Amino acid sequence: MQRKEYFDIIEQPEMLDYGVYLQCDKLLACQKPLNDLCTADELQFQIVHQVEELWMKLMAFSLVEILDYMKAKQSHRILTLFKRVHALQRMMIEQLDVLETMSPKEYQQIRLQLGNGSGQESPGFRLLLKIPPDLWEHFETYYLDEGALSVQQIYDDEYSHDERYAVAEALIEFDELFQRFRWRHLFLINRSIGISAKSLKGRPVDLLKRGASQQFFPELWNVRSEMTDSWGSEHGVKRSSISGKS
Ligand code: HEM
Repeated sequence: MQRKEYFDIIEQPEMLDYGVYLQCDKLLACQKPLNDLCTADELQFQIVHQVEELWMKLMAFSLVEILDYMKAKQSHRILTLFKRVHALQRMMIEQLDVLETMSPKEYQQIRLQLGNGSGQESPGFRLLLKIPPDLWEHFETYYLDEGALSVQQIYDDEYSHDERYAVAEALIEFDELFQRFRWRHLFLINRSIGISAKSLKGRPVDLLKRGASQQFFPELWNVRSEMTDSWGSEHGVKRSSISGKS
């Protein structure tokens, strides 16, 4: 077959029931026509971004469901949905590998197509940033009994590995994976345009490190250092060697 024939099949798929239900015609028309790509790598650049937008849509939808289940204290549902969200987050991190198969030169060609577009304009990402304060507020109301219980009690004083603890750990897993995505994305930038570059809006890329260090649920992170301090004050910060050699 000739190249054009292959392209025709990719761009105008035969629409059987599978394609009708999934709207494959519309989905496969969301990328630039193959003959208009500025370089062959542009197709993967568009597809990775589009796929990640779809995963963020599903994550946001699942997190909103989690908010409803928190109100009803349906912990099993919450944990199952968080499992889905965490799997999506891990996939989003892993999928950035695809973009590292692109050479810096080819990315410079693609970059000429982007106007002054910025990942900070991503609708999925912007929505995801809005949800964590509500997650924390719901956790405090429904799992910390409106503040009557402290995170410290759940993790240390009254630790029993109960549903409060399990939901708290699901929240911190979400927070950690979100930060890991942002740090992984910084490595991707370093591989493609360099960390000392400026964004297409003229901002230093380095500024992204601030976002990557953002914690959604600082109370859940802080409790660990507080425990180390309090166990340290009781049992000693510096301990004796158990081998007697160090
Ligand atoms: C070669 C590939 C990529 C490069 C060179 C790149 C570059 C950049 C740069 C320079 C910024 C800062 C923008 C600004 O200050 O206005 C940024 C932000 C961002 N990009 Fe990318 N990006 C790439 C791929 C991706 C992909 C695949 C995603 C998928 C969702 C993504 C999502 C984001 C997000 C969410 C932000 C905002 C991050 C934050 O505020 O912490 N980027 N990107």
